[in-house]
Amino acid sequence: MCGIVGYIGKGNAKEVLLDGLSKLEYRGYDSAGISVLDGKITTVKAKGQLKNLAEKCRGVKLDGSVGIGHTRWATHGAPSDINSHPHLSYDGKISIVHNGIIENYAPLKAELIKEGVEFVSETDTEVLAQLIRKNYHGNLLDAVIETVKIVEGSYGLGVICEDEPDKIVAVRKDSPLIVGLGEGENFIASDIPAVLKHTRKFYLLNDNEFVVLKKDSVKIYDFDKKEIKHGVYTVTFDETAAQKGGFDHFMLKEIYEQPQAIKNTLNGRVAKGEKIVLDKIADGDLKDISRVFIVACGTAYHAGLVGKTAIERLSGVPVDVDIASEFRYRNPILDKNTLVMVISQSGETADTLAALRLAKQHGCKTFAITNVVGSSVSREADFVFYTYAGPEIAVASTKAYITQLIALYIFALYMAQDRNYTDKETLENIKSELLLLPEKVKKALETDALTKEIAEKICVETDIFYLGRGLDYAVAMEGSLKLKEISYIHSEPYAGGELKHGPIALIEKGTVVIALNTNAELRGKMDSNIKEVVTRGARIVEILPDNFENAGEGCDELITVPATEAILAPVTAVVPLQLLSYHVAIAKGCNVDKPRNLAKSVTVE
Ligand code: F6R
Repeated sequence: MCGIVGYIGKGNAKEVLLDGLSKLEYRGYDSAGISVLDGKITTVKAKGQLKNLAEKCRGVKLDGSVGIGHTRWATHGAPSDINSHPHLSYDGKISIVHNGIIENYAPLKAELIKEGVEFVSETDTEVLAQLIRKNYHGNLLDAVIETVKIVEGSYGLGVICEDEPDKIVAVRKDSPLIVGLGEGENFIASDIPAVLKHTRKFYLLNDNEFVVLKKDSVKIYDFDKKEIKHGVYTVTFDETAAQKGGFDHFMLKEIYEQPQAIKNTLNGRVAKGEKIVLDKIADGDLKDISRVFIVACGTAYHAGLVGKTAIERLSGVPVDVDIASEFRYRNPILDKNTLVMVISQSGETADTLAALRLAKQHGCKTFAITNVVGSSVSREADFVFYTYAGPEIAVASTKAYITQLIALYIFALYMAQDRNYTDKETLENIKSELLLLPEKVKKALETDALTKEIAEKICVETDIFYLGRGLDYAVAMEGSLKLKEISYIHSEPYAGGELKHGPIALIEKGTVVIALNTNAELRGKMDSNIKEVVTRGARIVEILPDNFENAGEGCDELITVPATEAILAPVTAVVPLQLLSYHVAIAKGCNVDKPRNLAKSVTVE
């Protein structure tokens, strides 16, 4: 969940590290720190946002060209200067940054304390620093290898040592780590945008690979110190794609990027009158699949709920949808004809990755939908579908969600095309409508001003309900999550018909209910559910397609979105919900891009 960066070259390490950390802050931002090696190691750490660290560094001499940095999202030990990384060995000779969790840190720490080592922090990471020091006998790589042999858990690790000032040693297991390749300088980082300003060439490390990074060379080794050769991955997206580009916040920029992101997802896969093409999947690869499990967390799980309906309706293949942290511990019944599909924007979510591994152990075929090229899920799944939404920086997911929906529709059409479950004409209509979605989402963005007006009225609420039936219920879940995570307003989504089984007791005069009503077949039922809450005093914000008659009857605020096929309606309906959440959060003065307690990439269970 934390972010790490490392630099070795001729430049000023402090500048490179602080800049790199600013691109990694979304991975955690309760404290940050750097160590710079210039004869000896100097370490500066600060609780709170990165600007506190930058401020603190101003008063310290940090002139070296080798260093490591870290931005933290606390797991073991509260956010504080002392618990921030880098962590030093007892004699200050070795400094490390770590992303992950050391599960057996307690017994290891107890043993070191018995041997007389004094600890200064409450973190699991400090155990690694002390162990590497203990195992250091003149060769840093050997010390790191010996240390991780006895460690259980996950790590992306960067290590520097005063006695070997010409190198950084790094290793990864179950936490992301990349190497950036420069001219006379090299980098490590948790992800590419951190160092994209300096290079476009990368090694994407695999688990249990050790790196010795010098300014003029990068060598990768396995546990036996056998050298491993890696292909170079060249990035094609631009650094400005990871910047705000004129918008006040990354979240708003990413909402507005959705039409283009959808185009990128459709590109080369869907064309009128032609079969759906999926990268590296040959005809027949998925022929024997009799059941699909979709496994994901948070927003990606909500996308999965829409995917279930799409796949079942179009292909007739039954689909279960699971939250990854539940799936992995509930002994799901899996066999070789089951396809386990994981959905993960980052491709690094610990529970989702573990679910994927579990599926592989059971001999299932695995399929990953992810936005991050070279991410862990993309490397471990049998089949990969990249959404190509571009880097998503805001913690609240928007363009990643919408492109996950598109990916799922494409997958549903692929599964349908040879199964003769849905007639060809219906499939062609859906394909044509899919291709119109970039334009329709662009039109849906015109609800921006109206959602701002509504947001200014409802931002004072303490509880807001979302209602929907069928696919609208899945979208209601996503709308509700978006609102609570960035505006901190308590919010609950309910299936329209479920309300009267309990939650309707919470509705009182003035309660705001956001009602999604996009499906003509369910409209009558949903209208009745809306009446049930209106009778009890609720104020209704209703989302309807622009082709419904008598729109707006009985609601306080009406938001219309471009009509499309009912099955695709989540794509247009979610747009005003994203905008509404954004404007409510702004009206409340919240930190939209970095909501409290959250991190973009959740690499711990
Ligand atoms: C909410 C949000 C999270 C993520 C979840 C899974 O806006 O972004 O709920 O969807 O943490 O993350 P990924 O998709 O990276 O596996």
